[in-house]
Amino acid sequence: SSNRSIEKERTLAIIKPDGLFGNHSDRIKQVILDSHFNIAKETVVQLDEESAATFYAEHSSKSFFASLINYMTSGPVLVMVLEKENAVADWRHLIGPTDAREAKITDPQSIRAMCGLDLQKNCVHGSDSNKSAEREIAFFFKETSSDEAVANHDEL
Ligand code: TYD
Ligand code: MG
Repeated sequence: SSNRSIEKERTLAIIKPDGLFGNHSDRIKQVILDSHFNIAKETVVQLDEESAATFYAEHSSKSFFASLINYMTSGPVLVMVLEKENAVADWRHLIGPTDAREAKITDPQSIRAMCGLDLQKNCVHGSDSNKSAEREIAFFFKETSSDEAVANHDEL
């Protein structure tokens, strides 16, 4: 339909436990809206170990995996579906490099530079491709027949 052609690209954003705990979400949401993303869906959830491990399954063999899961389950996270043209790449650009310490030097305007602490506590997540975005959005949000979003996890 003609509607399809104006559908925007979608990506998944997460404000991680240090971001919520540090009260950075209002500031981050302002950056999101100033950058012309639409926040299509949002939910606050507490991840359990199993769901965090499934979400980060691609990293299951890495040395930092256990620590990452421990961190991602240490408190609630704010999960959002962001919509705009070129949403995946634009959100990755806005959040900056993975290591927040590096971000403070090389990309001081980035969200990770402003709100993150280090390589692990980097405040925000962003899907790395359209394929990842689809998987990650489906992980947290399920389309019902009435087209409402429901979280797979304990909503707070
Ligand atoms: P990765 O997908 O490489 O980074 P990004 O979030 O930028 O896509 O890694 C996923 C998360 O794992 C990252 O946000 C923080 C954590 N992490 C570590 O704790 N140590 C590391 O050495 C790396 C590479 C990542
Ligand atoms: Mg990644």
